[in-house]
Amino acid sequence: MDSKILVIGSSGQIGTELVLKLREIYGNKNVIASDIRKGNYEVMESGPFEYLDVMNKNEVKEVLEKHEITEVYLMVAILSVIAEQNPLKAWELNMNSLFNILELAKNGYIKRLFWPSSIAVFGPDTPKEMTPQDTVIKPSTVYGISKLAGENWCSYYRNKYGVDVRSIRYPGLISYKTTPGGGTTDYAVEIFYEAIKRKSYTCFLEKDTVLPMMYMDDAINATIGIMQPESLPSYVSYNLGAFSFSPEELAEAIKMKIPQFEISYKPDARQEIAMTWPQSIDDSKARKDWGWEPKVGLEEMVDIMLQGLHFTI
Ligand code: SER
Repeated sequence: MDSKILVIGSSGQIGTELVLKLREIYGNKNVIASDIRKGNYEVMESGPFEYLDVMNKNEVKEVLEKHEITEVYLMVAILSVIAEQNPLKAWELNMNSLFNILELAKNGYIKRLFWPSSIAVFGPDTPKEMTPQDTVIKPSTVYGISKLAGENWCSYYRNKYGVDVRSIRYPGLISYKTTPGGGTTDYAVEIFYEAIKRKSYTCFLEKDTVLPMMYMDDAINATIGIMQPESLPSYVSYNLGAFSFSPEELAEAIKMKIPQFEISYKPDARQEIAMTWPQSIDDSKARKDWGWEPKVGLEEMVDIMLQGLHFTI
């Protein structure tokens, strides 16, 4: 099919880079960016943009019709830390945005949908190392609860109404082009800004808290990759891994390039969240089912981040 794509949440951490990559592949005019706030210069200049509130289903429907959209990437979410501060608002946004789009897909306005899940679906009872695709899944955060419910609703719409919805459980994502907002894994981006600006960083997690992470390019490739096959062997939200590290290990890797860099630790409430998440991910199902393979390792990621940020801050 000729794809006409709508990215909802195109001004966010993932949405921004996703739009630019999709435009490279499908052509600028075939990828419509949309958000409640303006995007960065590149997104706004390179192709169409619609101001769109995903909570307003009629508005979304109008945009779908106007641009004859076939595929939607729904990249809207309140992340883990902010969700803990405002549980009901996070639940409302994370769930109702999904319901609006699932209903429109069910009614034939969208042929294929991407919806992001997260390592946050896992909880304190989940095995932490090489966390399997199918395991104990009892999240203890508002964000995790909303992502798990979303996964189940996606399966429901798939099984009951045949909606073609595809999903990935992202680990922490790292990029020098966009910054995250309100997540537990945000330190892994902040640390690079501070390493360059101040040669020191105070981390809000304990030094030995290992979490699964990924360089953004790999996440974007996975996101676009899972949308390619005509069909998938199964429509679960796929585990996705690349590498894992603790703040101390990341600091060591940065020190190899910036020897004066110093890290100190002042754990806050985010530590509680991090402790409930996996340390590494078994993503063999994604590798087998649709050929997922990460390309960027930890050291390369550090090199890319330091080089990229030197020029921008
Ligand atoms: N990066 C997210 C967060 O920390 C996890 O999906 O909230």
